[in-house]
Amino acid sequence: METLSVWRGTAAPTGYAMLQGDFTADVLIIGGGITGVTLADLLAEQKTANKPKVVLLEAGELGCAATGNSTGNLYETVSGGMREIVSRWGAEVARQVANERRGAVAFIEERSRLLGDVGFRRCPLVQWADAANNEALQKEYDALRAAGCAVDRGGSIPAPLPPAEGDVLVLRDQAQFQPQAYVVAMARRAAEAGAVIHEHSRVLELDTKARRAVTATGSVTAKEIVMATHTPLGVHLVHTEMPVHREYGIAFEWAGEAPPGPGTWWWKATDRLSIRTTQHGGRHYLVCVGQEHKVGIHNATAGLLALEQLARKHFGDRPVTHRWSAQNYRGADALPYIGRNHSDCFIATGFATDGLVWGTVAARLVAAELLGHKASFAELVKPGRLSPLKGGKNILEENVLVVKQLVKDYLTKRQDEKLSSLKPGDSAIVDAEGETFAAWRSPDGELFAVSNVCTHVGCKVHWNSVETSWDCPCHGSRFRPDGTVIEGPAIRPLKRKEAPPLGDG
Ligand SMILES: Cc1cc2nc3c(=O)[nH]c(=O)nc-3n(C[C@H](O)[C@H](O)[C@H](O)COP(=O)(O)OP(=O)(O)OC[C@H]3O[C@@H](n4cnc5c(N)ncnc54)[C@H](O)[C@@H]3O)c2cc1C
Ligand code: FES
Repeated sequence: METLSVWRGTAAPTGYAMLQGDFTADVLIIGGGITGVTLADLLAEQKTANKPKVVLLEAGELGCAATGNSTGNLYETVSGGMREIVSRWGAEVARQVANERRGAVAFIEERSRLLGDVGFRRCPLVQWADAANNEALQKEYDALRAAGCAVDRGGSIPAPLPPAEGDVLVLRDQAQFQPQAYVVAMARRAAEAGAVIHEHSRVLELDTKARRAVTATGSVTAKEIVMATHTPLGVHLVHTEMPVHREYGIAFEWAGEAPPGPGTWWWKATDRLSIRTTQHGGRHYLVCVGQEHKVGIHNATAGLLALEQLARKHFGDRPVTHRWSAQNYRGADALPYIGRNHSDCFIATGFATDGLVWGTVAARLVAAELLGHKASFAELVKPGRLSPLKGGKNILEENVLVVKQLVKDYLTKRQDEKLSSLKPGDSAIVDAEGETFAAWRSPDGELFAVSNVCTHVGCKVHWNSVETSWDCPCHGSRFRPDGTVIEGPAIRPLKRKEAPPLGDG
């Protein structure tokens, strides 16, 4: 299925050259989403004599992963609920979280003024629920107050949004923007200030001791390495602590009657929806995001169809112009992991679906530390923190899931028949000649067969029918049918199976 977000579909293209040759830098940033690009900009704008030389390597195009496939909402609270932070950490930490995030939203507003039209606008964040979930919303009101957020209770929900069956919480003065336009414009600003940016330059080997990253066409050796890759590359303790989920997005063109006003609309019913509007070239769009599920253990097509049906139920039978999906990594104790970890590199992960703001927080914290002023908030989110009581249940659940995945295959049909009988568009896990293959035949008949064992730490991959990829349920690595890495902590491709079994095996 063709997937393209409304943000990537309507932003200016990028066009940075691939890395060619061997270079050195003071700071190597791996990853060109909001975290990496903001950090590049913050370092490149330094006017001091010891301004660091910055190189940013992006595997695909800037914004191509979570940033350009998000919802573009900016808020001081967190989507999982401030009450989780209050109950795990207490009101004082919740206040610090809200303050830090509020500061990051103000920073994005300031940058947006410098960057030109990136769709930034201030708007309220409105949360409401069905009767079954109203009690949770009432608790959220108390938690938001405890965290010092300016929240009101009351008011009504304008049609055609789903009606409220209980409280309506309004958080004033939040914001939203066009995330892809922001990243593209900020990268341009960073490049003009001296940051060197390369797209289509996936890091294929990372030697953290030698501080060297190798791509297919070159290498960068740097004093400091920042993995702004959404989840760190290679094997890290944080992988065992973070559940990984995918979520779907669609945009409808909104013609005729006026669309709902600017706002971040969180419908916290049993079937959750995040709703907002946007416009481009005189056309208005309604954006709906929802149907979150764990990576690799869900029927992706069913998830996307369920989102479309839910949106149609409330907004009518309008043509869907864009469909997309993206991944999120949740910190076990409800906070992200930002800072230097045991590999002596910086990591920035565990943002859940709040990482446009957390990614900005991360860039500001890492930039401050690289420039010699460590902020006090950095202590709270440092990757090596041990909080088994705070995160214990999630860590346990995650590792039970990982163990299951090592021994069991889900959802992808297993067949003993010949690979040659696989029909165009079909995928299967196939046992042939004593080996197991993850096989897919393209619509034009080409057969791809790769190992079904993830190169990260060995779980079994599963088919994602929406995005035509093999996805790993353990820590979220994803691979193309030819085995090359799309995203996640895996660095090496799935092993391509040799020709003999492909023939008539
Ligand atoms: C459906 C959905 C909706 C969301 N909506 C919101 C929202 O409204 N508000 C909000 O605050 N957050 C939202 N989020 C979360 C937010 O999008 C992410 O947390 C944030 O974009 C993460 O930014 P990042 O720069 O850290 O990672 P990414 O944007 O994923 O960037 C990482 C980059 O690293 C690159 N990379 C990876 N491996 C390599 C390698 N080996 N070599 C070179 N480059 C590499 C990737 O190609 C990628 O471009 C949403 C998330 C999802 C899934
Ligand atoms: S992502 Fe860790 S084993 Fe696959």
